[in-house]
Order: sequence, then C-alpha cells, then structure tokens
Amino acid sequence: MNDSKRLASLLQAYQNWAIVGGQWGDEAKGKITDLLAPFFDYVDRYSGGSNAGHTTYVPAGKIVGHLIPSGLAQGKTCIISRGVFFDLSAFLTELSEAGKVLGKLPPIFIDEGCTVRTPWHNYLELWSERARGSKWANTTNRGIGPMASIRAARLDIKLADLYGGKEALLEKLELLRRIYLPIFENMKTAGIISRIETAEEVGLGLASEAAQIKDYVLDTRRLLLDGMRKGQRILFEGAQAALLDATWGTWPYTSSGDAIAGGVFTETGLPPSPLGVAMVVKILPTRVGEGPMPSEIWNRAEAEQYAKDHEELFKAGWERSEFLSALLSKINSKQTSPAEISQYFQVLGDERGSTTGRGRSVGFIDVPIIQYAAEINGPQFLALTKLDTLSGLRSIKVAVAYEFEGRRLQSGELPSANRLHEASVIWEEWPCWTADIRSCRDFNDLPAEAKALVLKLEGLVGIPIRLISNEPSREAIIVR
Ligand code: IMP
Repeated sequence: MNDSKRLASLLQAYQNWAIVGGQWGDEAKGKITDLLAPFFDYVDRYSGGSNAGHTTYVPAGKIVGHLIPSGLAQGKTCIISRGVFFDLSAFLTELSEAGKVLGKLPPIFIDEGCTVRTPWHNYLELWSERARGSKWANTTNRGIGPMASIRAARLDIKLADLYGGKEALLEKLELLRRIYLPIFENMKTAGIISRIETAEEVGLGLASEAAQIKDYVLDTRRLLLDGMRKGQRILFEGAQAALLDATWGTWPYTSSGDAIAGGVFTETGLPPSPLGVAMVVKILPTRVGEGPMPSEIWNRAEAEQYAKDHEELFKAGWERSEFLSALLSKINSKQTSPAEISQYFQVLGDERGSTTGRGRSVGFIDVPIIQYAAEINGPQFLALTKLDTLSGLRSIKVAVAYEFEGRRLQSGELPSANRLHEASVIWEEWPCWTADIRSCRDFNDLPAEAKALVLKLEGLVGIPIRLISNEPSREAIIVR
C-alpha cells in the first residue's frame, strides 16, 4: 500500500478530524495538517489567534501562517471560525505573504462573529504583563488575553460590526475606550505609550482593513454545517496545545483559547458529533513564555535569548555543522552541561518561535505530559514529530512518571496546574541510534533502537503512534 492509501485508510473511520497539540505548542501541527489536508474539503482554525505560528514547507518555499489554517498550501477551502481572536492587519500581511509563495490562493472564509483586535488590546496586555512583574506570562504580545477577557465581558467588537452602521460601531468603540481610559492615561503618564487613539481613529483603521476582506466574511458555521450534511469532510486545526489550554493547561501560564479537541464544537458552533482526533507530539517538548515544564533541560530565559544571540548557528553551513558535531561528541561522552545539551537541540531542531523569534526551551522526553494530554483529547492516534533529532545520541533521558506529595502519580494524573512545578521526575535512560534516519519512509527501515523507542512510548501512552515525521519537508513521513 502506498502512503496515500495508508493515510486514507487511517482517516476512514470518521468524516471529520481534529489535529491538536499534545504538549506546549510548536509540535509541528502545521506539517501534519498539510499532510492530511488532501483528504478533506475544508481546513478550519477554531481557536487561538495570531499568537499561533505554523510553518509549512512547500516546493516554492515556506509559508508561515498565524491565522489562516495550514490547508492553504494544499489548495483547500480555509475557514477561520468564530472562536478565533481575529487581527485584521495580521491577516492582511499573512494573505499577501502567502500569495507571494503560492500565487493563486484557495477560498478563505472568516466568521462574521470573530472578535477583532484594536491597538487598545495591546496596551492592556502590556499593562497587565508589567503589573504581574516577575510572574509575567511572557506572552506573544498579540493582544490575546485582553481579547479573551473583553469578549467574556461582552464589550468586544465583532467583525460584523465593521460592516454595519458607522454610528453603532463608534458607540461600541467609545464605550470600550471609556472603560479602559484610566489605564491608558496612567500608561501615558508613565511614558509607556505616547498617545491614546480616539474611537474615531480606531474605527477608521478597522473599517478600511475590513473593506479589503469583505468578500471573505460570512457565517462559517452554516457553511461548515451545509458541507457536513452533504458528506464533505472537515479537518480542524487546533492552535497551541493541551498544556496551554485556558482551562486544562498549566494555569495561569497558558494562552486564552480552547486548545483541546473538545473546543471544536464550542468554537465553530457545529453540533457535537463523532470526531477523529490526531494528537501531535514532538519527541522533545519545547516551551516559550512562563510556566512549569518538569523535563526542561536548561534555564527558560537563557534558552529564549540564545536563539536571538546566535542567529548564525541556525543557518545551514560550516559553522552550524561544526557546532553540532562538537556538541554531539561532548554529549555522548557525558562531558557537557545542561546549557549545551539544550543549545544542541535548539539549533538542531531550529527551535525558534515562528511568531516571536524567541528561542524555545527544550525538555527531555516527557511521558506524563503526553499521557495527560491524551486523556483530555482522546486521540485515535499520535503523530510523533522530529524523531530524527535523536539520531547520533547514545541515549536520551525520559521522564517516565512524576512524584507529587510523596506519591507516584498514575498515568493521566497531574498535580493541579499551578503546582506542577512541585512535581519531581522519575527518569529512565533510553538507548538511541547512530544512523541518519531522515530518508526512512517505512517503519521497518528504522534502526532497532528507534523502533523500540517508538513502541515503548506508544505502550506507556496507550495510544498508537501512526505517523512519524523525520524531517521538515512534506514527504518526510512514516505512516504505520
Ligand atoms: P498569549 O497566547 O500571547 O497570551 O501567550 C500566553 C502564553 O502562551 C505565553 O507563554 C506564550 O509564549 C504561549 N503561547 C501562545 N501561543 C503559543 C504557540 O503557538 N506556541 C507556543 N507557545 C504559545
């Protein structure tokens, strides 16, 4: 059976599927969405906002998406559902960048009920991050937290408001401004912002951007529902990941959206119905921003700064190869520091945020986190990414369980979110392999240690690993 037939049979049991992240984001969900998109009619983003970043490698180059789902490169109709925090200027930039790489774009539709960003949201985020001081969440600065809280307070501006009467829009904007004006004035006095936009200015800016996307805006719930009734298939692309979910993640160090599979229905308005779930898990988890990560290798702040300070190492060439091979020998002879181990994986895996450019802090394999995310998402299978990053290592550390309050936690159990940092890790060391596995396209061609590692992980999580990605390119996939 060729890969296309194997993928078709993998997806056969359900009409619709969701792709969700099983760690702290950046698991390469975009690549898996791009891979599976040919089997669907629609690809839908249902939560998050321009804080997300997904990279798709296509023959003509690379597309970095933030709001538009990763079905774009496969020419699928792309939907941005109501649960997405919508940033008009980010969308327009993304549209133009994608057009440069792909030429003609497929249809894209945005729900008329999406909450839209204003410059005031960014001011509020800046203010709240400062007020939180050393405990700041270190957000992506895309206004997501304020968009979520203002939406919850029913004070938000919806996309549809930008196509209605000018008076009504101004009235809503005036109210929003009036409520937060004392904060803006404090910020201005403190020199944090230089001016406070009037409602008229914000309204004019939004209306002119809205005019450029008028044909994209409609009731996406009805569009998807009609499609479903006709037997068309929808692939829902999750944003962020289980541990960043506003309710089920490592609160309060999470994002503000519904990042889990359960969010598909609340955020699109579709009625609950059977849904296949593929959970994407990166072999070594990464994290940006603030919050606990029990298997983390190095210091978060230093790891984040590292990529910014060493851009040269992230570009293909002699310097990068020398650096990687020198560090690999040190790691294998156990003469290295956590900082160097982290740097090795950061450079090797190009672990830099596609939204912020920050370096991502890397962790060793963390089984309890995947077990928890699998309980929340209920996936039919896992897609394991970046397995090739372990090639050449003698062995890798694996967090196989956590201990908390003197007890070994069961599979799927975590300390309450804001006490995860108190968990201690029970480690094992699993053997790795020397061969370069990047060209393997069949599970049986992998070295014995790689197969054993995949099977052991699968056994501990209790969910089959059906897809294994071993390079960024679209073709680099093993379908089991
Ligand atoms: P926000 O979503 O910008 O409010 O950021 C809240 C937290 O979620 C911060 O720690 C961010 O770094 C993190 N975060 C948000 N989106 C992503 C993502 O797509 N990948 C990884 N981390 C993210």
